[in-house]
Amino acid sequence: MNTIATHAAGPAADAFPSKARVCNCPTRCLTPADDINFLDAANPRHTEPLAPEDEPTTPTSIDHLRELLKAEFDNEGISTLCYRRLKRVRRLMQLYTPKPEDYAPYAHFRDGYYTRNLVDDGNGHFNLIVLAWAEGQGSPVHDHSGSHCFMKVLDGTLEETLYHTPADEPHGEDHDDDDEETAPLETISKTNLGAGSLAYIHDRIGLHKVHNPSNDIPSLSLHLYSPPYTLSHAYNPKTGTRSQPGQMLFHSVGGQLVKRS
Ligand SMILES: [Fe+2]
Repeated sequence: MNTIATHAAGPAADAFPSKARVCNCPTRCLTPADDINFLDAANPRHTEPLAPEDEPTTPTSIDHLRELLKAEFDNEGISTLCYRRLKRVRRLMQLYTPKPEDYAPYAHFRDGYYTRNLVDDGNGHFNLIVLAWAEGQGSPVHDHSGSHCFMKVLDGTLEETLYHTPADEPHGEDHDDDDEETAPLETISKTNLGAGSLAYIHDRIGLHKVHNPSNDIPSLSLHLYSPPYTLSHAYNPKTGTRSQPGQMLFHSVGGQLVKRS
């Protein structure tokens, strides 16, 4: 499980609002009333601009994106964001145009496994992370501990394979090995994501694995996770077996490699 990346807290507890409520933003609009509306507001298939008064400033750099995201979260968890701010978070991730000088400090590759490189901890409300995928590297099938995940390809290409979560989740047994046969995971889709593409996943949508399909070109992606989390389950796609939760570690923080004893 050390191939899955890292975050900053245990399983997410506040990924969805329990009910609609008035937001503290100046327009006093409502938070999404249920997870279906929430997932729809976050869905990057919506690529049209927002209403002029809601369209966010276009981020000019990754540091600018960090500032704008923090302003949207405004020291609040994602479940407290109203529709407008939630859509602006999604839109900010769409509008950001990756530039090599932006992501170079976080592009730490290594043999064997992809790396997770923390860009910003979002004052505890989100993690912004660059994942560096050398040629052919990939993740296991995994869940997201109830958090929301936006994934933007910065460079190269990634392939995302989406699976249905086994029917007995989230109450399924965790296993230390793959001996127990159940049933293969059912594939929903397989998508090639080129540079600039944005994807979104939540456990209510399913599980996924991500890998760099190229034999000669490395890939980089920018992930926004909210709430942050540190534990994730891997799944065996042949048996549907879920592993014990694995701790996820950062390879670098703020561009500086993390020293391990
Ligand atoms: Fe993921």
